[in-house]
Amino acid sequence: MSATGHQKWWRDAVVYQIYVRSFADADGDGIGDLRGITTRIPYISSLGVDAVWLTPFFPSPQRDHGYDVADYVDVDPQYGTLADVDDLVAACHAHGLRLLADIVPNHCSSEHRWFRDALAAPPGSAARRRFFFRDGRGDDGELPPNNWPAAFGGSVWTRVADGQWYLATFTPWQPDFDWSDPAVVADFDDILRFWLDRGVDGFRVDAVTHVGKAPGLPDMPPLEDGVGEIAAAGHNSYGMYWPSAHNVWRHWRDTVDAFECEHPGREVVLVAEAYTARRPDLLMDYVRPDEFHEAFSFDLMLAPWHAPSIHRAIDDTIATLHANGAAVTWTLNNHDTQRIVTRLGRPEAEDPESWTGNALSTTGTDIDLAVGDRRARALTALAFAVPGSLYLYQGEELGLPEVFDIPDDRREDPVFHLTDGEGLGRDGCRIPLPWSTEAATSFGFSTPARDGSVGEPWLPQPVAWGDYAAADQAADDESMLAFYRRLSAARRLRRWPARSSPS
Ligand code: BGC
Repeated sequence: MSATGHQKWWRDAVVYQIYVRSFADADGDGIGDLRGITTRIPYISSLGVDAVWLTPFFPSPQRDHGYDVADYVDVDPQYGTLADVDDLVAACHAHGLRLLADIVPNHCSSEHRWFRDALAAPPGSAARRRFFFRDGRGDDGELPPNNWPAAFGGSVWTRVADGQWYLATFTPWQPDFDWSDPAVVADFDDILRFWLDRGVDGFRVDAVTHVGKAPGLPDMPPLEDGVGEIAAAGHNSYGMYWPSAHNVWRHWRDTVDAFECEHPGREVVLVAEAYTARRPDLLMDYVRPDEFHEAFSFDLMLAPWHAPSIHRAIDDTIATLHANGAAVTWTLNNHDTQRIVTRLGRPEAEDPESWTGNALSTTGTDIDLAVGDRRARALTALAFAVPGSLYLYQGEELGLPEVFDIPDDRREDPVFHLTDGEGLGRDGCRIPLPWSTEAATSFGFSTPARDGSVGEPWLPQPVAWGDYAAADQAADDESMLAFYRRLSAARRLRRWPARSSPS
């Protein structure tokens, strides 16, 4: 509860995640943009949600579609301008919606000025201390400094012209920050303030479990047999969950708390993306009272279609977090995971030992989408009903399936390219949305440019994508969209006490 006696808005909010590139394209170039989102605010509002979370819209070479940030305080020209952000914030607030930005603290783009300066500076310089630059092993430093695997394939280490190596947990284009450097801390303070001053109501904070590394960066112990290339990074306890990161989150919480004190009426939320699969005790570390307000629990999303597993996912999470006074934050879909109707329509979905959503590798065979649709409705109804907040991912309200039929040369996810196709990647859950049945405008995704042209969508849409069109579903009581609207209406009815409005 807040000092004025009302419940903090985020504790039971429904938040709608927008993958900016794939939501709505207002200028006909085939790429979603901020103005496209602003034109669709009435649709978002009609879903009965409380807030939107935008995936990164900052300048970026787009090697990982915005999660490689080249400037944290501007907008990528593909997506618009700072003035478009201001318009979007205003439009959201006018509709009673809050807006969350997505901040990436573990790494930036290798095109960021800070990293370019580091490359130009000598070993041991202040510019290099922002990152993890190290000498290599071997007689001539020709071997990487340790054995850590990268999250998307290969080693975390990349060698630079003067012979040193730098560490990048995800791709070589995303060098990790060294948060023990006070310059990094100070810069992110400015970044948070910049967006809060522009009216943003909070931040989804990316990949927090990777922030902080074991001092000395020791070799990780050998992997057990059978752990694949992509899963390997998740086993590196020296590069994940390192306790020093919690100093950073406590500092961020202080920054946000101070901002709220200076701006009465503003209620800011920090929500952590902390993958702690089936370990609510680990998740709890991130939502201690002086750290994040919320952290996604992915356990319901990770559960197979197996009642005891679903039950356990809910009970364990609620028991652990509530016992410590923390809010629970559910989600069933996001831009990194295969879509729910596909996952739950797999023949192996009922196997308690399986998880069917690994967007990094699982392909599509024998999927029964009708079964997946029914199961998705049941699990979604449950997610709307259990205590806590709920984050939805664009397109789940349309029942969109995962798309597998993407030609290799149109796939964009670095996971696909860095693993030579062994990991299928996440493009299949990022296909531009179908708004109408009109194929000429990419099913309503693109508004034609001034000259009437419509660019090809950045990822190809299936020919039958119009079958999922939002406009048609809006007119059909049995549709997934109508189902979602009923769920959020029912959820709003039971809300008490009142929540504050965005200001
Ligand atoms: C984001 C991914 C991104 C990765 C690296 C994740 O957790 O959700 O989309 O590729 O962080 O930033």
